[in-house]
Amino acid sequence: MRLQDKVAIVTGGAQGNGKAIALGYAREGAKVVVVDVKLPGAEETAQQIVAEGGHAIAVQIDVSKRDQVQQMIDRTIGEYGKLDVLMNNAGIVHAYRLLEYPEEEWDRIISVNLKSVFLCSQAAARQMTEHGGSIINITSLAAEVATPGNAGYAASKAGIKLMTKAMAIDLGRYKVRVNCIGPGHMVTQMTEVFRASETISARLLQRIPLGRWGQPEELAGAAIFLASDEASFITGTTIYVDGGFLSW
Ligand SMILES: NC(=O)c1ccc[n+]([C@@H]2O[C@H](COP(=O)([O-])OP(=O)(O)OC[C@H]3O[C@@H](n4cnc5c(N)ncnc54)[C@H](O)[C@@H]3O)[C@@H](O)[C@H]2O)c1
Repeated sequence: MRLQDKVAIVTGGAQGNGKAIALGYAREGAKVVVVDVKLPGAEETAQQIVAEGGHAIAVQIDVSKRDQVQQMIDRTIGEYGKLDVLMNNAGIVHAYRLLEYPEEEWDRIISVNLKSVFLCSQAAARQMTEHGGSIINITSLAAEVATPGNAGYAASKAGIKLMTKAMAIDLGRYKVRVNCIGPGHMVTQMTEVFRASETISARLLQRIPLGRWGQPEELAGAAIFLASDEASFITGTTIYVDGGFLSW
């Protein structure tokens, strides 16, 4: 059990990548706080963990709201007494070409994807300064390569990638490690529209050396590794789990 006795928060844990990571953490012995705006989904993930013999609670918050983020931390400490791991996974995507990009939508994606990482990491790190910890942020291939209509999402994910390095520098003295995972093309609700289009899907698959979409469960390995003491000298870095997409 690589995360025995650790307490982990996983945001966006109701479905997709977050759910797979939450289940992976619990199977390695962590007590998991499953956080999402969607309470029923978060509860379902927590119930599955408990049914498998693990420990989990579900907490409903919007990660882009400071007071709600503090509630998430308070619930975690109230329930489990400490916090060791923060997985900043919650996120949204949308596509607007630049000339038609509504300002409110720009503000929304930056707030939910990027500001949330600042808010959650700051609040979590304040709990970790005594004993250390691990913060893991989910970036994207969009931090490296652009696609049409993607300015806001790309800015949020590239921001997360460099903010990871900046936070690693600020928190190193407290033994808090900060790293990033960049998923490639994973089979989740977020990518349903792309997978539904044969043309887009075929074009993408041609560029993925492993020749297929990734399953959310395939992110859990990197997420567990970075959360565990096996990664004790790793901070400020990004691991891409992308079937080789960025090699081409
Ligand atoms: N699926 C992919 O191919 C892919 C690729 C690269 C990066 N990612 C990233 O992985 C993360 C998870 O994506 P996914 O594919 O599982 O998507 P998803 O849409 O299936 O799940 C995202 C979860 O985040 C939650 N969420 C959204 N806004 C929130 C908020 N304000 N507060 C709390 N929870 C909120 C949603 O309710 C949902 O449960 C995202 O950060 C996404 O950008 C996904």
